[in-house]
Amino acid sequence: MNRLDRAYAVADLRKAAHARLPRPVWDYLEGGADGEVSIVRNAAAFDAYPLVPRVLAGAARPDASTSLFGQRVAAPLMLSPTGMSRLFHPGKEIAAARAAARAGVFYGLSTFGTTSIEDASVPGAPKLFQLYMFRDRGLTAELLARCKAAGYHVLCLTVDTTTPGNRLRDKRHGFTVPPRLGLRSALDFALRPGWVAGLLRDRDFRLVNVGSRVPAGGTEAFLAYANREIDPAISWRDVEWLQTLWDGPIVLKGVLAIDDAVEAAKRGVNGLILSNHGGRQLDNTVAPVDAVRPIRQAVGSDLTLVVDGGVRRGGDIVRALALGADACSIGRPYLYGLAAGGEAGVARCIDLLVSELVRAMQLCGAASIVDIRARPLLV
Ligand code: FNR
Repeated sequence: MNRLDRAYAVADLRKAAHARLPRPVWDYLEGGADGEVSIVRNAAAFDAYPLVPRVLAGAARPDASTSLFGQRVAAPLMLSPTGMSRLFHPGKEIAAARAAARAGVFYGLSTFGTTSIEDASVPGAPKLFQLYMFRDRGLTAELLARCKAAGYHVLCLTVDTTTPGNRLRDKRHGFTVPPRLGLRSALDFALRPGWVAGLLRDRDFRLVNVGSRVPAGGTEAFLAYANREIDPAISWRDVEWLQTLWDGPIVLKGVLAIDDAVEAAKRGVNGLILSNHGGRQLDNTVAPVDAVRPIRQAVGSDLTLVVDGGVRRGGDIVRALALGADACSIGRPYLYGLAAGGEAGVARCIDLLVSELVRAMQLCGAASIVDIRARPLLV
């Protein structure tokens, strides 16, 4: 049995990823801002919603398929946009996009991906492009035109990153892109031959979508670039501007306040990804899953709500939907899979979460996704 077959839960993929990645790369994947309080709370918050099993309900073979942003999907699960997947595996974003397409779930490509908009686009598969708003609106418009041509369905504007989060692990452990081999890291690299072999095969870590505009010179130069070029002054006017450029659904990622959600609904935004960026931006925030019920009550049923942050088990998806969400999204879990085994590792992660979801549905007497929303399944 290989290490993927021996992964029976996301926690096992996490262990396998940890064993394969050099320390600074692992810390970039796993870490968050400041005291990392949000990371712990995001996951723990799900545990505070016990499910009520329902019996004799005729849910013999639950169907997890549903519609999300106008697309038919196999499960209410998305892969969140994450930057620089090449760090974790040479298969990078393409591996994750293919695994998502095979499983029939949404893939989200980051502006700071190491794969082009075109290469990450699996024809016919549900896909989302995550945008950081650049001061250079010409570049923004250019990215949108490419997404349209490549068939992306959803435009997702990340609104919680007007300045980079204070990631202490990256500072303390010398995270650089591309990873640099030095005296301090030599042993670390030597103990991870699988990852190093991938590094030797393909050393291309460029952020190809913003391409030539990013200066060479490692992390410091990149952060300085991002700090300079991502517009810290974005406002609702910019959302209006995007609405004139993009015909499909527009979602805002990084909303947690009720008032912001109400404003978004008023302005015709199609969906929200309730998120604290996996605890990588403002630390010690309300957990996304705790924001679902109040926001759903405030905005009514029209707005699509996706919970992002701390989803580690299929049962968490049942909890989020029972609270009023339409779907959940995962970041680190599929990156653990990617690091552990490329496309097959991402596929394993999705498969584990969807089987857990279906099992939880069955034990909750929910034959369909609509059933989860219709029955009181929480204490
Ligand atoms: C991220 N995230 C992120 N979000 C975004 O909008 N654009 C990006 O480029 C990135 N990059 C990124 C890199 C890495 C390594 C991680 C772990 C995360 C945040 C991501 O989309 C998502 O919000 C969180 O990962 C969700 O939390 P969990 O599932 O990791 O707990």
